Amino acid sequence: MTHLRSLFGGAVLLGLASMPGLGQNPGAGKVVPKLEPVAETRLLMEGLAHANFRGLERNLSKNPIDDQSWIFARGQALLIAETANLLMLRPPKNQGETAWFERSMEMRTQAQHLAGHLAKKDLEKSRASMQQLANSCNRCHQAFRVPIEITPFEKAEPPPVRKVSAE
Ligand code: HEC
Repeated sequence: MTHLRSLFGGAVLLGLASMPGLGQNPGAGKVVPKLEPVAETRLLMEGLAHANFRGLERNLSKNPIDDQSWIFARGQALLIAETANLLMLRPPKNQGETAWFERSMEMRTQAQHLAGHLAKKDLEKSRASMQQLANSCNRCHQAFRVPIEITPFEKAEPPPVRKVSAE
């Protein structure tokens, strides 16, 4: 029985050793994932940054703003903050890297501030914070010559949406 158990134990150890990333670091048992960008930046802009920004505008334009909408709006702000984390995975591969990181961090900070005001259901501060957030979007667009200007609560036409091809 003892013999069997030790055989079994040995098999488990062997199995672990052959798993990539696990066997090399005995004791620690840590897996360090390699973060890599997957989607195009444009897709993050349209599907995450802008989609949630527009959702925020809709929720904050309601009168009155019900509890559910405040909760939703806070979530939208936090998703924009998380989008900034995703942006940090894909800096341009030239000297623009520092500016990219700074602008992404600014977007994350502004979105977090906004989430805080939304959690407190402070409409005035939230609207001011939306402007600050839009400024952080625009500063990056200007730095990287992207002809898109984000203006909160503007009734004008939305910016042109380019088709993202599946090929
Ligand atoms: C760190 C830089 C950076 C920040 C911050 C940033 N953007 Fe962008 N944005 C870009 C770049 C680069 C593009 C061009 C992407 C492309 O076409 O490949 C872009 C494009 C866009 C587009 C056009 C997408 C399309 O379909 O062509 C929209 C809309 C947009 N951004 C919205 C936002 C919003 C809203 C925010 C803030 C909440 C924001 N962006 C913050 C870098 C940034």
